[in-house]
This record gives sequence, structure tokens and C-alpha cells, in this order.
Amino acid sequence: MSDPAITFSKAITRRPSACVKHGLRSEDAGDPDFLRLERDHQAYVDALKAAGANVVELEALDDLPDAVFVEDTALCLPDCAILMRPGAESRGPEVTQISDDIRKIFETVFEVSGPAYIEGGDILYTGREILVGTSERTDHAGIAQLAGFVEPRGHRVRTVKTPPGVLHFKTDCSLVETDTILSTQRLASSGCFADYKVLIVPEGEEAAANMIRFNNTLIMSAGFPKTFQMLSTAGFDVVQLNNSECAKIDGGMSCLSLRIA
Ligand code: GLY
Repeated sequence: MSDPAITFSKAITRRPSACVKHGLRSEDAGDPDFLRLERDHQAYVDALKAAGANVVELEALDDLPDAVFVEDTALCLPDCAILMRPGAESRGPEVTQISDDIRKIFETVFEVSGPAYIEGGDILYTGREILVGTSERTDHAGIAQLAGFVEPRGHRVRTVKTPPGVLHFKTDCSLVETDTILSTQRLASSGCFADYKVLIVPEGEEAAANMIRFNNTLIMSAGFPKTFQMLSTAGFDVVQLNNSECAKIDGGMSCLSLRIA
């Protein structure tokens, strides 16, 4: 196993700040409990380390409530990184904050410029291609800039659609194997995964579609027993972590880290 879409050596995370209770959200499910979220975040970092990650843990940022969701700030490919330009205006400064940390790791770093916008949560790298979902946070101009940076380097970018009302493309899907995607039915029905094997999350467990594969480990949100069973039965080593607090501000397992080959 050495595919760069599922084989990683490092991860970047950012410690949560108490201001996370002001995080953006599509529905009001109450504010996250900071102490619980802090404990969950530590468990997430521990799980990454157990899966083989050398974790760069960045300091909390006390005035940027969504900064714990580092995934949206950059796309990390095996040969380069691309700094994003979030569609949520309040999240723009997160990119400035992480820029030096990305540049310490990658020799080649591109940066999306305005007025285009694009967030990492809308991007699924499968090794053979980069799928990018248009959404409220990612527009065609952002995708065109990304393609302009990476296609000359041999990457293929394919534009797809994040389902209406869904925050990010990866809210509804994850890479399980380089040829296998875990997806909600609503996203898979669009046909965007026609060239892949697709595992559909059982009805009622749609929030389980956002998980990460890090080397041989799948890290998923706890509370989705049918999905856990399906993935375990398929032979994966699956770690379940509480995500109740991040979920209140639309955060899932992928949002909390950048994974680096
Ligand atoms: N709270 C995550 C986001 O909306 O960007």
C-alpha cells in the first residue's frame, strides 16, 4: 500500500479555541460544549498518531471560531499544496494563519486569488483525479484556478456538484480505497462516482459519510452502528470518535485535519 490518496506520514491540526462556540452553522442545534469538544479533539489527534501520523498541532486562534476546521484552508497533494480562498468571508484569515505552516512542509505552494472562492471540504482527491463540488463555498472560478495550478503537474480535476443544502462535497462522501467511495445515497444518485465502487451509508446515518482513511485506519464519527458494521465487515480497522460538538457547527472527521503524504 503506497497510494498517496490513502498513505500519509503527517497531519496538521489546530487546537480548538473557546470561541468555537461562535462557529458557522446551517441550523441551530445549540452551541458546542467547549470542554467536550477539546476532549474530542485530543482523541482525534491521538487516533491520527496511532494510525501513523506525525501530527503538527497548531495553536488555537482566539478570534477565528472555525479555525479548528483546517481542511478548508488548503489542499495537500503529494507534490504541492494549494492555499484555498474560503467562500465564507469570516474564514479568509484562517488561510493567512496557516500559510507559513504549509510552506514549511511543501516546496511548491499555489494560492487561489479572489474573487474566486474554494474550500478544501469540497475537494476529494482519489489519487487518479481530484473531484471538486460546486457549493455555496466553492465556485467555478475557484475550481478553474485549482485546475490551472495542478493540471500541468499531471493531476486531473473534475467538477461535480455538492447536493443542495449540503455544506461541502465531503460532507457526503469519503475515500475508503482508491477505487471505493463511502457516500450518501443523495450524492451517489448524481452519478458522480460512476467509475468507482460505492458503499452507501445506511438510511438515517448520512452524517457518517464524512470520515477519513489514514493509512490502514478509518476514523469515523461514533453513533452510526450500521455504517460501523458495514466498514468493519468489509475488513477495515475502524476507530469511532465522538463528534457531537463539532457536528453542531457542521464539522466532521475530515474537517479537523490536513493529511500529508
Ligand atoms: N462551521 C464550519 C463552516 O461552516 O465552515
